[in-house]
Amino acid sequence: MQKGKDLAGFLQETTTADITRLLLSIADGTRTLSHAVRNLGVLNLGGSMDVTNIQGETVQKLDDFSNNVLMELCKASGVCAGYLSEENEDIVTLDPNGGYVVAIDPLDGSANIDIAAPVGTIFSIHERLSPVGGPVNHGDFLQHGHRVVAAGYALYGSSTILVFSTGAGTHMFSLDADDNHYYKSHTDVMIPGNGKIYSLNQGNLSKFEPVAQQFIEWCVSHDKETSRPYSLRYIGSMVGDMHRTFIKGGVFLYPAAKGEKRGKLRLLYECIPMAYITEQAGGKAINGAERILDIQPTELHERCAIIIGCKDMVGKYEEFAQAVAAV
Ligand code: AHG
Ligand code: MN
Ligand code: MN
Repeated sequence: MQKGKDLAGFLQETTTADITRLLLSIADGTRTLSHAVRNLGVLNLGGSMDVTNIQGETVQKLDDFSNNVLMELCKASGVCAGYLSEENEDIVTLDPNGGYVVAIDPLDGSANIDIAAPVGTIFSIHERLSPVGGPVNHGDFLQHGHRVVAAGYALYGSSTILVFSTGAGTHMFSLDADDNHYYKSHTDVMIPGNGKIYSLNQGNLSKFEPVAQQFIEWCVSHDKETSRPYSLRYIGSMVGDMHRTFIKGGVFLYPAAKGEKRGKLRLLYECIPMAYITEQAGGKAINGAERILDIQPTELHERCAIIIGCKDMVGKYEEFAQAVAAV
């Protein structure tokens, strides 16, 4: 079978030289991580370290390994001024002369590592706002999602897939396990509009905001016209659950809950990148009240409720939210 275009060739034709360099560096990191995930036991990368990160979560060996690999490669790109990671408390200046900053979740779905279930990497790239030649500052990272210049994720599942957008559609590349190159599998991916899947941690039902409870009730109620009840699928890594959403449609949710008004997922390196590539694929992403890409970030590691996927299902959630707000 003939292979699709390779990643470097595609990027050279579709984006700038600097973004090509940075995306190829991140892609190199994901190839290393793909190998590490598949050889976890052999490389002794399973299990946790004796530390917690800024979110208070136990750092897995693979979290730390992934962060070091990706930070080094972003630096090596020669265009990345600064780096914000789930695993670093503060931002890091990598190259004072770079024009871009990267926000990254080096290893998403850490709880899946030791059970050999899908994990991934999520990232977004903004132009820096601080003067070139000096250190980066928080303002470089606290930018609206609608100012993203490129974003994407890698999924280390039964195969390794790189999905990204540079603002002109969402594209999928598969890693060839033999020659270790990425080849195009789908360009201009569109989230199917007739999804029949909802995806969330339903064990938290009693804690979710009332709108989420109403929405779940709607998903499980019977209606021939919209093929309800819908199926519940939940992998427990955002990358895995979102990849299914891109391919099969439906909606993924991590809503606001009692005691967790902003949900669980992180705005800068989980919600914004996924929202950007979702919109580029014809979908929609909100926090319940507002478009994710229009939220003004205020903290590096802030959390954000998210309802993301095909327009119809996210639109339905919005309808419920507007009805509740009107009361
Ligand atoms: P991370 O491993 O980067 O901390 O992210 C985990 C996230 C996300 O991938 C997933 O959607 C969610 O946590 C699962 O949370 P629950 O275990 O609460 O369902
Ligand atoms: Mn994550
Ligand atoms: Mn993570």
